[in-house]
Amino acid sequence: MDRIQIRGGRRLSGDVRISGAKNAALPLMVASLLTDEPLTLAAVPHLTDISQLAEILGGLGVGITMNGNGHAEAETGRVLKLHAKEIKSTEAPYDLVRKMRASFLVIGPLVARCHEAKVSLPGGCAIGTRPVDLHLKALEAMGAEIELKEGYVYARAPKGLHGARVAFPFVSVGATENLMMAAALAKGTTVIENAAMEPEITDLGHCLQKMGAKIEGLDTRTITIEGVDRLHGANHTVLPDRIETGTYLMAVAATGGEVELLGTRGDLIGAVIPLMREAGVTIDETNRGIKVSRNGAHFTGVEVTTEPYPGFPTDLQAQLMALMSTANGTSHISETIFENRFMHVPELLRMGADITIDHQTAVVRGVEKLRGAPVMATDLRASVSLIIAALTAEGETTVNRVYHLDRGFERIEEKLSALGADIKRVKG
Ligand code: UD1
Repeated sequence: MDRIQIRGGRRLSGDVRISGAKNAALPLMVASLLTDEPLTLAAVPHLTDISQLAEILGGLGVGITMNGNGHAEAETGRVLKLHAKEIKSTEAPYDLVRKMRASFLVIGPLVARCHEAKVSLPGGCAIGTRPVDLHLKALEAMGAEIELKEGYVYARAPKGLHGARVAFPFVSVGATENLMMAAALAKGTTVIENAAMEPEITDLGHCLQKMGAKIEGLDTRTITIEGVDRLHGANHTVLPDRIETGTYLMAVAATGGEVELLGTRGDLIGAVIPLMREAGVTIDETNRGIKVSRNGAHFTGVEVTTEPYPGFPTDLQAQLMALMSTANGTSHISETIFENRFMHVPELLRMGADITIDHQTAVVRGVEKLRGAPVMATDLRASVSLIIAALTAEGETTVNRVYHLDRGFERIEEKLSALGADIKRVKG
């Protein structure tokens, strides 16, 4: 299993290009199931989650071709052409779905187009129980019969799906996406109340609109979709990755230095910029992206609670904690989205951090220095928080189980190395 070795203490400087967003690319790829014409997606990041989903879609009959590998075509990323001319199977098997929760998104489009689906209950990061009840209730409201058997969800709608009014009890990104895609081909109008409004939802909405879907209310908590008989092909560019953006921002804040993040936008990380400024980090939006710097002055602790967008994202909570481990003063970081998302804490403690957990709040007392240590990546975002900690730590850190990292951060060791970090991947 590959490991990443980092010798900490170097400041970061230069430019880094932010990749297309994984969490936007995944639902966009699934949207290809809704039409028998090709969907072409640009700026698709080169990640194992993307190849996993491509494998699942391939099994359903989607023809996938790919141009570029994200290296020479750094600005455009990889271009994927997905063509679901004919759906050959409506089954997404356990072996593939268990590796990534987002693959459960295929159920809505499959039932909408083929009137049936058999999809394994998902796995993914071990950050809580993460059920799919909201997805299933929404499909039931649209007329699907749902049966759970031997770890699989069987969904059938012999007469097709119809529109419905669905009020989610709390915000779910995946359930909103599943329902939007199903509703696009349902008979009649669907209204989603308490919809997610993450930028990835809006990106999916824009792509569906290009495919001929009738959607109103994107960027609000109420999304209305009037079903159409058929959708057609489209070209779409995946929006920049706001989690990767926030991660590099925090890495630079942690090590000090000055880096321009190219091809990204401040509005995608609305709640993050004021928080970082409050901590004493300089952030400027430029015509190429976002410039972050910290030269000399140290940063201070913060109080933050994770929330659905536009609040502070749960996917940056671990990275913020790694940063705040060496802040001046104490931070309070509360996690409200997932119940088991502090798995990075024991690893940060091994590096000398001073963190205690009180229910859903981590109290992080800034220490002067972290020390390098062998640590273990436990989930996607936790693993990158250990990289940030390692970049500031004294001595060498080895991060084990980096397959988590490869699911979500494109060429991270190359990008950090180009910014001056002492980082290398050890194959094994
Ligand atoms: C997506 C993101 C993930 C991010 C999360 C929250 C993708 C591929 N992944 O995950 O990176 O951390 O949003 O911003 O976009 N829940 C239920 N029942 C459901 C659905 C969700 O109880 O049917 C719960 C979950 O367990 C969790 C909360 O709702 O506690 C939010 O989950 P959700 O927004 O659905 O996250 P994902 O779409 O899985």
